[in-house]
Amino acid sequence: SDNGLALTPQMGWNTWNHFGCGISEDTILSAANAIKQHELDKLGYNYVLMDDCWHAPARDPSTNAPVADPEKFPNGVKDLSDKIHAMGLKFGIYSSAGTKTCAGRFGSLGFEEIDAKTYAEWGVDYLKYDNCNNEGRAGTPLISYERYNNMSMALNATGRPILYSMCNWGEDGPWNFAPNIANSWRISGDIYDNFARYDDRCPCTSMLDCKLAGFHCAAARIIDFAAPVGQKAGTGHWNDLDMLEIGNGGMTHDEYVAHFTMWAILRSPLILGNDVTNMSNDTLSIITNQALIAVNQDPGTGPANRIWKKEVFTGDGDISLWQGSLQNNVFVVAVMNTSPHNQTVDILMEDAFLDQGAAYQAQPYEFFDLWQKDSNGNWGKSIGTVQGKFSVTVNTHGVKVWRAIPKPSNS
Ligand code: GLA
Repeated sequence: SDNGLALTPQMGWNTWNHFGCGISEDTILSAANAIKQHELDKLGYNYVLMDDCWHAPARDPSTNAPVADPEKFPNGVKDLSDKIHAMGLKFGIYSSAGTKTCAGRFGSLGFEEIDAKTYAEWGVDYLKYDNCNNEGRAGTPLISYERYNNMSMALNATGRPILYSMCNWGEDGPWNFAPNIANSWRISGDIYDNFARYDDRCPCTSMLDCKLAGFHCAAARIIDFAAPVGQKAGTGHWNDLDMLEIGNGGMTHDEYVAHFTMWAILRSPLILGNDVTNMSNDTLSIITNQALIAVNQDPGTGPANRIWKKEVFTGDGDISLWQGSLQNNVFVVAVMNTSPHNQTVDILMEDAFLDQGAAYQAQPYEFFDLWQKDSNGNWGKSIGTVQGKFSVTVNTHGVKVWRAIPKPSNS
């Protein structure tokens, strides 16, 4: 979208993955305080996002304006957003392009203008707009385009810059129409706190099936969905791989590291989904990796590409090589291992620099391991000069990721 927002992928925190419908003013302000206390906003995590279930049972009967649950939000939404703004943070809200939200609260279909106007009055900076209860108005890009564009236009008409995060679950190929009307779009069903369970329900066999049973996607499945659509993303419009699960307890350290790495290099929005008021040092150290955040926020450049993927044991995971371009002739290279065993692989510069051509394939690089700290304590430790190829061992359900900088050859 050309609203001037999300020039790099948005970062922040959202209520849903950890709290679900169990939210209140208190949950949200406590999270905002924790973001400040840990200085996560200084790293870029500046959007505080209220997902589903903030609603009163019904709209205002006389104006049709949306109303928040008076018990959960005794001071109202405007007061909450004022408090968040006073902390130097931004505030986001959630609705659905349907008659009801996914949790059954009132939706925005047919109420786009009054809703956008009210959100603007409340000081909303971000809208996540879901796909549930769309009354059959899905299944072709054209029909979904209209639904989502109505809200896009209503948001623009308010005159307030409101980041527009579309949530169509990849159903109607949103990457083909969303870049013009939204700042990001979900590409899959909902993430759940698991890295690579290949017998999960993603994608489910029918949308009805999805609604009845939930439609959870393991992180590695979402990465598979992201690989072919990377080039649809760029400045102001991003593929959304869904909110992060780091810190929610369902994955190992290596799995959370892989999850964060891939979301970063694929330029997904980085929206924390854990309880930030209660984090382990391990969680904090993963989500604050500044070298990877810098890759995610690199201006003017786009997602890494998958160069190859090799099945290791059929149906049981694979090894894949990824590479992306950053500004100033810097590159990012990663290997991901979704198989159940540690794997040792050769990384050929011929592969890693396939897209850049012969000169790039032949020249030497300095590689910096982005999950090791240098002598100053910063993420990104030099592993020396690489030319031609090198061998690396990647843990089961882990990644290795490097920044690669061309080295002038000493002549
Ligand atoms: C859908 C979305 C989720 C979340 C829930 C809320 O499932 O995909 O991200 O917003 O609705 O009900």
